[in-house]
Amino acid sequence: MAHELHDTAQAIVADHRGILAADESTGTIKKRFDAIGLESTEENRRQYRQLLFTAPEMEESIGGVIMYDETIRQAADDGTPFADVLASKGVVPGIKVDTGAQDQAGFPGEKITEGLDGLRGRLEEYRKLGARFAKWRAVITIGEGIPSVGCIRANAHALARYAALCQEAGIVPIVEPEVLMDADNTIERCFDVTSRTLKWTFHELLVQRVDLRGALLKPNMVISGKGCPEQAPASRIAELTVECFLTHVPAAIPGIVFLSGGQSEVEATENLNAISQVGGPWPLSFSYGRALQQSALAAWNGEAANVESAQAVFAHRARMNALAAAGEWSAEVEEQVAV
Ligand code: 13P
Repeated sequence: MAHELHDTAQAIVADHRGILAADESTGTIKKRFDAIGLESTEENRRQYRQLLFTAPEMEESIGGVIMYDETIRQAADDGTPFADVLASKGVVPGIKVDTGAQDQAGFPGEKITEGLDGLRGRLEEYRKLGARFAKWRAVITIGEGIPSVGCIRANAHALARYAALCQEAGIVPIVEPEVLMDADNTIERCFDVTSRTLKWTFHELLVQRVDLRGALLKPNMVISGKGCPEQAPASRIAELTVECFLTHVPAAIPGIVFLSGGQSEVEATENLNAISQVGGPWPLSFSYGRALQQSALAAWNGEAANVESAQAVFAHRARMNALAAAGEWSAEVEEQVAV
């Protein structure tokens, strides 16, 4: 079992491939569809996920896809379950298993992620449905006097309990302690908060006997808050991100897959590229939601006639990020092969 977990974790990020986060909850995907004026019906959601999962050549850049509960139960037009569609292309099927971040009692302005109750049974079912990895997202908010150690530790503990249950079920846990990027803090403050968050996260993972070689880390980059008047350049983001991770992330982790957190598509690619060029002992890659889908969703616009061109847009974005994971992306490459 341990070997299977190690192999799966390594396979997802092999050859600089990354992860497509297509696990938007029904509420979140509605917001995305609203932006293109499309009604969020179960069938429209199925059509959209089918477009992404069947995009030609996406498997050259994408090693894993995170699905939502509804999606892993859906199938392509020909009746093939989505998990099988992905697995047959060599893409590992994954599933979001947390049930969302709620207000943390006693900690105004802070969140605790829920979903541990009954998780063992749900993981068993998801594995039967084809899932071989999972995701749990903790949310850490930067603000006046926050994050508190009470919030960081409660979330780290939940992440570790989740990760242990995943490994028991033969599922690779993606551990996602996300420090939000949308406040007005400096990059140095993000460095400090990310450092404290990672410190407690790995402490709890080790206390809960999680096998680090069978898990992946999905963190934020160390970056200036969106509202900060001084935006650090990619070179500084890369320097501080790698310094933070060298201090707090054991080399046993088989991959670090960054979230995009609301960066634009090209920003997320450029920053990953800069981070990969500095590099560390772990494979560095991406697990992007918005930064992989934004243009593709706009290109589709809910119309069957646009499926092929939207798939090309998605495959291009995925390829740019795989190049960035190798540290081989440049603005020129982006231009040359633009679709
Ligand atoms: P973004 O890349 O849009 O931040 O989404 C990734 C994700 O899965 C957050 O949990």
